[in-house]
Amino acid sequence: MKIVVTGGLGYIGSHVVVELLARDYEVVVIDNLSNATIHVLYNIEKIAGKKPAFEELDVRDKAGLASFFKLHDDINGVIHFAASKAVGESVQNPLLYYENNINALVYLLQQLEKLPMARLIFSSSCTVYGQAAVLPVTEEAPIIPAESPYGNTKQIGEEIIYDVCKVRPHVKAIALRYFNPIGAHETALIGELPLGTPQNLVPYITQTAIGLRDQLAVYGDDYPTVDGTAIRDYIHVVDLAAAHVIALERLLHTDAAANFETFNIGTGTGSSVLEVIKTFEKVSGKPLNYKIVGRREGDVTAAFANTDKAASVLGWRAKYSLEEALTSSWKWELAVRKVTF
Ligand code: WQD
Repeated sequence: MKIVVTGGLGYIGSHVVVELLARDYEVVVIDNLSNATIHVLYNIEKIAGKKPAFEELDVRDKAGLASFFKLHDDINGVIHFAASKAVGESVQNPLLYYENNINALVYLLQQLEKLPMARLIFSSSCTVYGQAAVLPVTEEAPIIPAESPYGNTKQIGEEIIYDVCKVRPHVKAIALRYFNPIGAHETALIGELPLGTPQNLVPYITQTAIGLRDQLAVYGDDYPTVDGTAIRDYIHVVDLAAAHVIALERLLHTDAAANFETFNIGTGTGSSVLEVIKTFEKVSGKPLNYKIVGRREGDVTAAFANTDKAASVLGWRAKYSLEEALTSSWKWELAVRKVTF
């Protein structure tokens, strides 16, 4: 079966491509290389022992996308990662986010609805919940106005897909609402490689530990939590990748309950920023230089998943612990900077 992975050279996309190849899917990667290098394709080949087809294409290129789908008229499924994903950047540059995350999705859906049968996995986010009133948060929690244009594009994206699936019975989709992806493949050949200053906690921690950054700024210790720092649900990217393949196979091989379903993909456990720091110091053996500063605009106090639906419907649960995920993040940082582990 032929699966198209948009953004397939990115952090999560590359880990999903490795999983798909391991299950003998034919994979075609679309990527505009705006946030990934072509070396990721070669490292995917080193891990999987085979290389996916690759098309350098920007999903905002409506005509280019139409030509691609004309060429590949035997597509069985699409996993759509290609999007912008930095919360802070989206506040400063909303139109980049609405063009890249919404227009491109519409162009992709216009191609999918032409197929005899279309199966779509959509990369969504726990940011659709904002600060949930009840934790752990379930898929039935109310969707409240997003705190950022990024979060808004995920909410709007889900609504667009829902509306299409409602009137196009041949189009079926699953939205996976990620919590906080961290970690890297055990080979340390692929992982998170943020361009410029990392926005996310874990890459900032590993770059501080390896000496690329002087000090980690902890955004606030006055939250109503166990130690005053904010709580998130940190999930190993390999667990997250497995969830994508399982969700895709639900669409390909079963009559999914509804044309459009959503699933929380997290560990179900919340960890504070200070707990992540202490766990990292334990696994790396390196004390971390950090200081407490003010809160970051748009951050919620706590977010962690109720994953019972993914467990009961998909038969999926996260396997890796925070310690294992942080160990893989550190191994990846050392490998990228060519330091022996
Ligand atoms: C985690 C915690 C920060 C950096 C991300 C993505 C979002 C979604 C969920 C996919 C927060 C604190 C961070 C730093 C810090 N993923 N922090 N110092 O904001 O939960 O959201 O995961 O869809 O798209 O952005 O992740 O890693 O930025 O922050 O203290 O230098 O770490 O305040 O409490 P976040 P994050």
